Amino acid sequence: MCGITGYIGSGSAIEITINNLKRLEYRGYDSAGVAYSSTDAVSIVRAPGKIKNLEALLPTSVEGIGVAIAHTRWATHGRPCEENAHPHRDCTGQLAVVHNGIIENYAELRRELIAKGHEFASETDTETLAHLIEEMCALEGDCDKTEGVANAIRKALHHVKGSYALAVISQDSPDTVFVARKESPLIIGLGEGENFIASDIPAVMRYTRNVVLLEDGDFAILTPNSVTITDFEGNPLERKPFLVTWDDAAAEKGGNAHFMIKEIYENPRTVRETLRGRLMDDGEIVLPSLPFSAEQWQAFRRISIVACGTAYHAGVVGKSFFEQLLRRPVEVNVASEFRYSDPILDKETLVVLISQSGETADTLAAMREAQHKGATTLAIVNVVGSTLARDADAVLLTQAGPEIGVASTKAYLAQLTALYLLGLYLARHDASGNSRLTEAEYHSYVSALRELPAQIEAIITQEASYSQLAEELAKHHCFFYLGRRYDFASSLEAALKMKEISYIHAEAYPAGEMKHGPLALVEPGVAVVGFCTQPDTNEKMVSNLKEVKAREGTIITVIREGDETPDCADYTLSVPITKEAFMPLLSMVPMQLLAYHVARTLGCEIDQPRNLAKSVTVE
Ligand code: F6R
Repeated sequence: MCGITGYIGSGSAIEITINNLKRLEYRGYDSAGVAYSSTDAVSIVRAPGKIKNLEALLPTSVEGIGVAIAHTRWATHGRPCEENAHPHRDCTGQLAVVHNGIIENYAELRRELIAKGHEFASETDTETLAHLIEEMCALEGDCDKTEGVANAIRKALHHVKGSYALAVISQDSPDTVFVARKESPLIIGLGEGENFIASDIPAVMRYTRNVVLLEDGDFAILTPNSVTITDFEGNPLERKPFLVTWDDAAAEKGGNAHFMIKEIYENPRTVRETLRGRLMDDGEIVLPSLPFSAEQWQAFRRISIVACGTAYHAGVVGKSFFEQLLRRPVEVNVASEFRYSDPILDKETLVVLISQSGETADTLAAMREAQHKGATTLAIVNVVGSTLARDADAVLLTQAGPEIGVASTKAYLAQLTALYLLGLYLARHDASGNSRLTEAEYHSYVSALRELPAQIEAIITQEASYSQLAEELAKHHCFFYLGRRYDFASSLEAALKMKEISYIHAEAYPAGEMKHGPLALVEPGVAVVGFCTQPDTNEKMVSNLKEVKAREGTIITVIREGDETPDCADYTLSVPITKEAFMPLLSMVPMQLLAYHVARTLGCEIDQPRNLAKSVTVE
């Protein structure tokens, strides 16, 4: 995920912003850059790859440079390369911008600005902002003073849809840094005769622990001795500074003990970001990155989903959802099996490959096999510059940002969100007559999608109860996770989360299979999590759980809010109600929290579990 730092004061601005930028390296990035104001110009230095590549290009004499903004970019729009690295400039070269987030209407704005004569030097959405501010300056004609530049930026933001943390420096107001925030984090560090900006607190902690957390809709003007915060209309706002007392290690994780829990907290944002720019205000889904015509979509008679681990579990949900909506055969395969199974593929097959890293060896091999056999490949992937993203025929990016904890959490929710969007898009544009999706159903799915982020937030507020339950559950030596259909998909992922970080044996079974063998293992000390979120099969689920109860297993049920608690349950977790197909997304949040707290209770190495790697680049 991109990182921003900035400095204004009497210190060495370049050195300080670069030092602070290094403290954001943990977020992941593929290029870096800095803009600084010297006596008569705004200068920019950028480099692909690591910050050390950028450092090699920086001027050796940095005396007198007291204003700088810097950025690490994690590519979303456009390849990772020098031209697309931030900062970006306007046509005059007098203004530089760094930005985190996504400008949803950038294509439209870019077209308008080009028509007005602006010249673009990158493929990014961010560069649009620089030219838009330039355009506002030209319209207002008073950008030679701080207030003029501030007005132009605020006016420009009124034309922008999307999310942003933004920092701007301008030669028209050389002793100032301008910043704005909407749905992308940005903080101000307050110093003595100097001020800092950053996307995250750890970046500034070496210099100050006195920080202001900007809120959505805040605009700020920083000079060495002042910070003025207003809304986008220029009305003054008051934001109280906050004293950071965390140690350095905790600060990198946003004050949390582990990356895993930080990433679980990022679930709502991840879903919002994956929907952003795709689920439009009028309820239509647009997937501009997919280059297929309506005829091409129709020509895909079969869909094959291929992935590993957590991504495979997302695929299991995708299979049921696609089949339910499209009424076409959809397969789901583990990549390591797929490639050696001589899969039946042809040009009428769409192979959907799902991967967080985009570098998983088996998934890449499956893609090559599919392409070799003439199938079309579509990657649902989180890392833009990854091999999968580069080599698949089409790409639908998940917007989870970098995932650092080895156990995948927010990437799973992003993968599900992308699959829901894709399934609904395909069903809505289905001309074969197979799809059963009515207009009313489509819109009810769309409303349900919009509610998901707030519903996840509501689940996270219950964390204390999961951590209490985890203390009880940590005493068990074995877990079974049971469910039917969508709930079986949840069982697979929930069992994986528990076993990989707590090292307790955990297995998922279709609930109806228990009495065909595994029931023999149930005894006191065995915990059985039963997902009961699918009204059609709940009765059967409860009968299966009663069979477990009779063998003295501990039963934890996951039900929908408002549904009756099964009387065989020792513990019950309820999650907000959504569409049956979307329940796996909501059900997984308490399961991630539970696995995390069980592992914590047992003192396990949570972010780097034994024997596991984040990216599995060998077969
Ligand atoms: C489990 C986990 C793994 C990955 C799997 C695929 O928590 O993270 O099972 O899901 O190794 O990785 P990607 O998605 O990078 O292809």
